[in-house]
Amino acid sequence: MKKKTPNLFVTKPILPPFEDFICSLEKIWESGIITNNGPFHQEFELALSKYLGVKNISAFNNGTLALLTALQALDIKGEVITTPFSFVATTHALWWNKIKPVFADIEPDYFTLDPAKIEAAITNETTAIMPVHVYGNPCRLAEIDEIAQKYGLKVIYDAAHAFGVEINGKSINNYGDLSVLSFHATKVFNTIEGGAIVSHYPAMKKHIDHLKNFGFEDELTVVGPGINAKMNELQAAYGLLQLNTIEESIRKRKAITLAYREALANVSGITFLKDTDGVKHNYAYFPILVDERTYGISRDGLYDRLKKNNIYGRRYFYPLISQFPPYNDMESANTANLSIAYEVAGKVLCLPIYPDLELSVVTDIAEIISKNANSR
Ligand SMILES: Cc1ncc(COP(=O)(O)O)c(C=O)c1O
Repeated sequence: MKKKTPNLFVTKPILPPFEDFICSLEKIWESGIITNNGPFHQEFELALSKYLGVKNISAFNNGTLALLTALQALDIKGEVITTPFSFVATTHALWWNKIKPVFADIEPDYFTLDPAKIEAAITNETTAIMPVHVYGNPCRLAEIDEIAQKYGLKVIYDAAHAFGVEINGKSINNYGDLSVLSFHATKVFNTIEGGAIVSHYPAMKKHIDHLKNFGFEDELTVVGPGINAKMNELQAAYGLLQLNTIEESIRKRKAITLAYREALANVSGITFLKDTDGVKHNYAYFPILVDERTYGISRDGLYDRLKKNNIYGRRYFYPLISQFPPYNDMESANTANLSIAYEVAGKVLCLPIYPDLELSVVTDIAEIISKNANSR
């Protein structure tokens, strides 16, 4: 590549057309309703449930509060089995609820929780499993469901990366007791900050809606110790506009993924994930694994090489959550228990991917990665 590219980050948020958002803002200014289950909030929840193909959805002001609330809604206590290979919010949500996280290892193909390791980690204190559809890749749903049934455990999926992912035409958010989304700026679908909980029954949605509004059932009745996690009208109006372009965004992400896969197919020591049959992927991330022995350069070496070219990949998810305090002293955080997670965390690098990323830039990035590397 002759000239340096401008700074390229791992992601770049899609914003709705400015004029359209101004129209929405005018409506908000006219109504004077800016939060508390206003008209945009109501319309957004309906539009979201239609787009995703789910029955009950509660919008939140971010994904972390949605996770915290999901655990409260099911009254989860004791120990919860979860993955170390995720963003810290997954485990922090347990910690804030005074629940003990128990880490289990991931499987090597899609980096989601290994069902056999989940089963092995169950104790008398285990009440739930909190798996993550990491990078938008579906967890081993049927096996996790079977374990949950067998041991009477709840399942809360952290689906922060999995907006729009479907399995055989069915939303991934229909799996588990609850499924939690994030609409943070870095995600496939964003409301600047935002999130949601998908539940199966109207009564559970009602319960969650009370919890996200201080526990208020009506003007005079508080049914429990809720929190303030409501999505406001500006976020909801912005989100409604985002739904108009989400399919196009996912199409563009797919084209970028295919371009990366083609350009990197013959670089020895670089591997990447494949699509799964029957899954509509959302192409949220493009993680590669760098095998230093065959590629000739370490993951961190490649990370630095890209950085010198103004390309800022991210080492998601390194370090593992289990390596951070307060989790690093826990028994389940030890290296031997999490050998696959450690291996993947040491090799992974997420390359830039967002709808506006030009395919010619993808070729440039792949060229930098291929330079001096051994060919297959
Ligand atoms: C896996 C995962 N869980 C939870 C969260 C928290 O979501 P939020 O940033 O919307 O609070 C994020 C990302 O931000 C995430 O990547």
